Amino acid sequence: MKLSGAKVLITGASSGIGAATARAMAAAGADLVLAGRDRTRLEAVAAETGGRAVVCDLAAQPRVLAERAGPVDVLVNNAGVGWSGPFARMSQETLQHLVAVNLIAPIRLTQLLLPGMIDAGRGHVVFVASIAGVIGVGREAVYSATKAGLITFAEALRHELRDFSGVGVSVLLPGVVDTPFFERRGTPYTRRAPAPIPPERVANAIVAAIRYERPESYVPGWLRLPARLRGAAPGPFRALMRFFG
Ligand SMILES: NC(=O)c1ccc[n+]([C@@H]2O[C@H](COP(=O)([O-])OP(=O)(O)OC[C@H]3O[C@@H](n4cnc5c(N)ncnc54)[C@H](OP(=O)(O)O)[C@@H]3O)[C@@H](O)[C@H]2O)c1
Repeated sequence: MKLSGAKVLITGASSGIGAATARAMAAAGADLVLAGRDRTRLEAVAAETGGRAVVCDLAAQPRVLAERAGPVDVLVNNAGVGWSGPFARMSQETLQHLVAVNLIAPIRLTQLLLPGMIDAGRGHVVFVASIAGVIGVGREAVYSATKAGLITFAEALRHELRDFSGVGVSVLLPGVVDTPFFERRGTPYTRRAPAPIPPERVANAIVAAIRYERPESYVPGWLRLPARLRGAAPGPFRALMRFFG
């Protein structure tokens, strides 16, 4: 799909991967609608990329965002939050917040904007999931579950839309990305490996996924190896996970 002149809505555009994606999309000539909660940061990204800022809380107001955005050619469901710690101690509020922002909001926003794409006979929906959604990460059980849900939702939607609608679906599976994500979830990333990658790499992968209709993109690409190992040889995979933590 051509991005030049396409109307693209990016959620979570005020920071990290979303802001980098806005810059990459602007360079590709897209007409941007940028969503986030932090007005100051969002408006700064909008000024830099020529986009229109829509400030709203996705967990509470997906319909407000869809109405203010209007029909779009491309939806990038990127906004997300993390939490790390023992599952047994996770508060109910945090649990519900993660599920609301990471899983329900992108599904609902897609449901609101997809009919316009189907009517137009063209469009693309992107989901920024995570490698955690494929392999499952200890102390990030609910986060992993929300991303797994997103991956399976995208797969099912792709089957449903295949052949007739002209609407593509892509899933991004980043590993560790150097953004404020870890600081915000309240637990810094402390492992030595894998090293965090810059958000621009994920942004470029999103642009390529839309241009070349890629169903699934691991960023960096080697992350598909643990994902495949888990499917093909779960026993050795679990032994390796114990070893590497
Ligand atoms: N960083 C990583 O290592 C990593 C790895 C794999 C996947 N991911 C995924 O990548 C996506 C982007 O994360 P990031 O690393 O760029 O993190 P980030 O810098 O913390 O950005 C998160 C974005 O989500 C928005 N957001 C959060 N809650 C929201 C809500 N209730 N309503 C509307 N917007 C909300 C934030 O907007 P405001 O700041 O304006 O509230 C912000 O723009 C997330 O889905 C994350 O799960 C990240």
